[in-house]
Amino acid sequence: MNLSLDNVINQKMYDIFAHLGLDTAYAVCKTSDRPDLSDFQCNGALALAKSLHKNPREIATMIADEVKKDNCFAKVSVDGPGFLNMSITNEFIAEVLQQMENGSDFGIQKVTQPQTVVLDYGGPNAAKAMHVGHLRAGVIGEAVRRIEKFIGNKVIGDVHLGDWGTPMGMILAEIINHDGDLSKTESYDINQITEFYKQANIRCKEDETAKEQARIITAKLQDGEAEYRKAWQHLRKVSIEAIKENYDALDVNFDLWWGESDAHEMSFKVVDMAKEKGLAEMDDGALIMRLEEDNKPMPPIILIKRDGGFGYQITDIATIKRRVDEFNAQEIYYFVDQRQSLHFEQVFQAVEKLGIAPNVKMKHYGFGTVNGADGKPFKTRDGGVMTLENLIKLSKDKVRESMPAPNEVDGFGEKEIEKMVNQIAVGAIKFQDLKNNTASGYVFDMEDFAKFDGKTGPYIQYAIARINSILRKAQERNLSIGKIIINLPEERDLALKISQLNTIVWRAHQEKEPSIIADYAYTLAQIFSGFYNVAPIMSEENTELATSRLTMAKLVRDVLKQMLYLLGIEAPEVMLKKA
Ligand code: ARG
Repeated sequence: MNLSLDNVINQKMYDIFAHLGLDTAYAVCKTSDRPDLSDFQCNGALALAKSLHKNPREIATMIADEVKKDNCFAKVSVDGPGFLNMSITNEFIAEVLQQMENGSDFGIQKVTQPQTVVLDYGGPNAAKAMHVGHLRAGVIGEAVRRIEKFIGNKVIGDVHLGDWGTPMGMILAEIINHDGDLSKTESYDINQITEFYKQANIRCKEDETAKEQARIITAKLQDGEAEYRKAWQHLRKVSIEAIKENYDALDVNFDLWWGESDAHEMSFKVVDMAKEKGLAEMDDGALIMRLEEDNKPMPPIILIKRDGGFGYQITDIATIKRRVDEFNAQEIYYFVDQRQSLHFEQVFQAVEKLGIAPNVKMKHYGFGTVNGADGKPFKTRDGGVMTLENLIKLSKDKVRESMPAPNEVDGFGEKEIEKMVNQIAVGAIKFQDLKNNTASGYVFDMEDFAKFDGKTGPYIQYAIARINSILRKAQERNLSIGKIIINLPEERDLALKISQLNTIVWRAHQEKEPSIIADYAYTLAQIFSGFYNVAPIMSEENTELATSRLTMAKLVRDVLKQMLYLLGIEAPEVMLKKA
C-alpha cells in the first residue's frame, strides 16, 4: 500500500504518459508552487516539446484531456507556455486520509527487501564525563535508528566506545603512581577514575617520562598482560555504567556495546590482509598503507604505529570487517562530528582497497557543532565544559518554571509533575537539535528552546496534549470517529498536509535526515491549529461534521505522536501550564 497523495498522483501521471506514448521520465508531478491555483503541477510538456518539435501547449492539452477522464481530479488547466495544473477533489483526498486512518502505520510503505543496517552514533570515551559535544551523535543516531526500523530495515545501533587508546594506559599509570600498584583499582568509582584521568592529563603534558610510561602500559595492556587487562576491565565497566546513565536520560539506545577494544583481534587480520595484497610498507618505523592515487593526495593509513600498537584508523577498519563478517551488514552509517570526515574517507578507501566490505554501502553523516550565543562551542556560564547532565538539569529547571506546583492540580503530585517536566525538557533538547540539518551546526538557544510556542518540541507535545483532551471530551459526549468529509479550505489544507506523510518519512529515511520529520511535525501542528480555530468539534451541531473533524484531529494526534517517536521524543498525555 502506498498512501502518499503525491505518489498516487505521480503514478497516475506516469500511466497517462505511457498510455500516450510519451517519455515517462517527464511525467513527474510536484506539489504546486501556486497552491492558490492548484494542488499539483507537471512541467513535462515544456521539456518534451523540445525533443518532439511541437508546441508545448499542444502537448500539455493532450495530456490534460487524458487527465480529465480521471474523476479524482477536480480541475485541470494548461497555463502559460504549457504548465499543467491539477487540483484533486475533496472526496479523493478524504478517501486517502480514510485509508491512512484504517491502515496500520498509516499505510506508510515499508522496504521490500529489508537491509541489515549498522549505525555508529556513540563514540564516547571511557573515563570522561559526557558533554554537549556528544549530544548530536546520540540524538541524531537514535532518530535514524527508529526511522530505519519503522521503514522495515534490520538495525543494529553500535556505541563504538572509545575504550582502548592511550587514555586507558594513562589512567593505569596514574593509579600505579598513586597507589604503587593496581591492587585498589576495583574499589574506584567513576568519579575517582575521572579524577585520575584528569591528573594523568596534567602530568603527561609536562613530563616526557610520564608520557613514555603511559605509552608502555598501553602497549602492554593491548598485548594482553593479565594484571593490566583486569584493572582495565574495571575502568571499562564503571565507564559504561556512567555512559549508560547519560544515554538513558536522553532515551538514546544501543543494540551493541562494542568498544574499540573489540576490534583488537581483527586488527591483526587486517594487517595480514594488507600484507598479502602487497599494500603494507614500512615508513619511518610504522607499518602503513598508502592511499594516494596519481592526482589525488590522501594521507596513508597507519596499520601499526611505531610503538607497535594499533591506532584509530585500523580500529575502524577492523570494526567494519567484524560488522560485515558477523552480522552481514549491508549498510554502515556513521553519525560523527564532521571534523572527522578525512578519517572516514581514509577508512572507506582502505576498506575498498582491502576488499573487506564489497557491496556494502558506507557513509559518514558528519554533523556540525552545538554552539553558544557567541558562535563558539557551547559552554557553561563560567566557561566550563557543559556536561550532558548539567544540560538536562538546566532544561528541567527551565521547564519547571512554567509548570504548576505539585498538587496544585488534582492528580498531579510531585511524581507526575517531574515525569512531565522530564519528558518536556528532554523533548525540548532533542527537538532543538533535530530541527537543524545534520550537516549544519546550531546555536543552543537557552531562551527559547523549551517554550510552548515557536518551532520547539514542547509546541508539538502541546498540540498532542490538546487533541488528547478533545478526544477525552468527545468520549464523554459519545462522539466517535467515522467518515471524513472535507469542506472548508482549512480542512483541505490539513488533509493535504497529512497526505504527504509517506513521502516525508521516506525522504527522511533516504537522506538519513531527521530534520525533515521535525519540520513536517511542526508544520502539521501549525496547520492543525489553523484548522481548529475555524472548524470547531465539540460545539459543532452537525454530527457528521463533528465526526469528520474529530477523525481528522485523531489522525493528526496519531501522526504527531508517531513523528515524535521517530525523533526519540515522548509525548505526555496531558500537559499543564502554570495558571
Ligand atoms: N571516540 C571517538 C572520538 O572521541 C569517536 C568515535 C566515532 N565513531 C567511530 N566509529 N570512529 O573522537
